[in-house]
Amino acid sequence: MAQIVLEHISKRFEIEGKTIDALADINLEIEKGEIFGIIGMSGAGKSTLVRCLNFLEKPTDGKVLIDGSNLGTLTEKELRTQRRDIAMIFQHFNLLLQKTVLDNIAFPLVIQGKKKAEARKRAKELLQIVGLEEKEKAYPSQLSGGQKQRVAIARALASNPHILLCDEATSALDPQTTQSILNLLKQINQKYGITIVIITHQMDVIREVCEKVAIIEAGRLVEHGNVVDIFNHPKSAAGKKLIIGDNVSATVTGEKSQVNEEVIVRAVFTENSAFEPVVANMILRIGEPINILKADTKNVNGIAKGEMLLGLPQNKRKEITEYLTEKGLEIEEVEQYAG
Ligand SMILES: Nc1ncnc2c1ncn2[C@@H]1O[C@H](COP(=O)(O)OP(=O)(O)O)[C@@H](O)[C@H]1O
Ligand SMILES: [Mg+2]
Repeated sequence: MAQIVLEHISKRFEIEGKTIDALADINLEIEKGEIFGIIGMSGAGKSTLVRCLNFLEKPTDGKVLIDGSNLGTLTEKELRTQRRDIAMIFQHFNLLLQKTVLDNIAFPLVIQGKKKAEARKRAKELLQIVGLEEKEKAYPSQLSGGQKQRVAIARALASNPHILLCDEATSALDPQTTQSILNLLKQINQKYGITIVIITHQMDVIREVCEKVAIIEAGRLVEHGNVVDIFNHPKSAAGKKLIIGDNVSATVTGEKSQVNEEVIVRAVFTENSAFEPVVANMILRIGEPINILKADTKNVNGIAKGEMLLGLPQNKRKEITEYLTEKGLEIEEVEQYAG
């Protein structure tokens, strides 16, 4: 059995006579040791879903099974104990400002009944894991965003959780700091086998660390599976908008097109086709400039994956598409966005 099982989860909020179906009939399984991503637009229900996972939010309908135990059947006390297995980190870190870094981490352990000295000893070990030993006496206000998130991660690990839930944990961080936090999460996943659930609206975060991904839209699970498959071929409208639309909107802020009557094409290479020769040869062959609106190659769980967004002159479109197809790339035309 999967470590996290959601069966027909629904969550309905009633406020001021209005009903909001934040989640509708979600079925999902997350295996032990996975790094699982959940993506969706703002308001899709991601935070509600993750809060239902540890019963911070009680689902209106359906079952949540964690390591085989049905959270809906537990007493409050049993639930509190069970929750120690499920830690959580947030976008805004939620550190206690009046406490030092060390005491922020030790505090939950003291609450759980550990002696202060023992809790501090454990907190020091945790600071070492997150690479912040030298900051134990600092206060949160003296730390950068990335350092605050490291403290929050250390605190989350204090009770030896089996599962770590991350709700937009990198959304307030710059790209470089995001990268370092993602590396830390990967390390923790590998070293301690902790299952990590990452909720985000940032597609790059999912590409970078997740093996599996689920897409939710308007409270419904519209698509889920391997990141490689879904990012290469999103099937749902929401998936296409998030994954392909993400790239296209990124180009809007980029250089303006110099090519008239441009068709935007997304080229994906799933095998190890070398990027440079393909593009260089394509330009040679066509004899006209081609706008590379965006290009990146990433290592998705050991599989080299490359992706380009090309602005092609309308009249060369067929030729280029054929050439790239011949080279093993998959081509799809992208809807033009107004900006
Ligand atoms: N406590 C609440 N009371 C009423 N409505 C809520 C509550 N929490 C979330 N919602 C509503 O549920 C929907 C999903 O919200 P949320 O899970 O926060 O989305 P996301 O995290 O994907 O942005 C939104 O329409 C939101 O307004
Ligand atoms: Mg949210």
